[in-house]
Amino acid sequence: MENLWLGYGGRVILEDVSLIVHAGEIVTILGTSGCGKSTLMRGMIGLLPPRKGRIFFQGREVDPEEGLDWARQKMGVLFQSGALIGSLTLSENVSLPIEEHSDLPEELIRDIVQFKLELVGLGSFGSYLPSELSGGMRKRAALARAMALDPEILFCDEPSSGLDPITSVEMDELLLELNSSLGITMVVITHELPSIEKISHRCIVLDGQARGIIATGKPAELKADHRDPRVQAFFRRQTLDG
Ligand SMILES: Nc1ncnc2c1ncn2[C@@H]1O[C@H](COP(=O)(O)OP(=O)(O)O)[C@@H](O)[C@H]1O
Ligand SMILES: [Mg+2]
Repeated sequence: MENLWLGYGGRVILEDVSLIVHAGEIVTILGTSGCGKSTLMRGMIGLLPPRKGRIFFQGREVDPEEGLDWARQKMGVLFQSGALIGSLTLSENVSLPIEEHSDLPEELIRDIVQFKLELVGLGSFGSYLPSELSGGMRKRAALARAMALDPEILFCDEPSSGLDPITSVEMDELLLELNSSLGITMVVITHELPSIEKISHRCIVLDGQARGIIATGKPAELKADHRDPRVQAFFRRQTLDG
């Protein structure tokens, strides 16, 4: 993303943001509530058209007219709400995007769905409804759905929100495993320090007042970085809270 401006109506949320996510990398987007993390993600996945600036995907510039449709199948998205369809079983939830975007025969789709569910440890839960599962299992099912079309890059908006600490650790481990075994690039929004330290190859810290990125680096570097009191406050608050 190059010199990107994002906002809603008359309000600018992020201005002049530039950021590169390298293939295979896990980048975490940090910052206090309301600073623009989800907005940045919406810009990255093409849900929120930028007011200014350029977006590139795999070396190709995204045409503002054309949008990101051509790249959408290479992107998996786990929205904060998880939002599985409540009336459909897990298998049906995961097969939906595959049915929509491919002409594969039914049996093959069934095998792919089973494979995806096994990938997230839910191989024997395909016939369950979301309401029959725990919060952690629902998140994992939503992850299986985000992975349905074999994305090259996965965007996760607060994948551990609403989960207890142990389930949250399992989610982190699952993301790490998907990154190392399948090489999936990841952009993960989180404000939980244990997650940040565990999964980040690189962190991007956003600030609402600055309307942009105030720091970038490895978690340990940022923690030890006293130059910016806002970055310190973020990490110190996290330590006190958690
Ligand atoms: N759809 C929207 N319309 C108008 N304002 C929005 C919308 N979504 C978010 N905002 C505003 O943009 C700012 C950043 O929000 P958001 O990106 O959701 O923050 P974060 O994900 O970091 O908590 C907030 O002030 C929020 O109120
Ligand atoms: Mg958000």
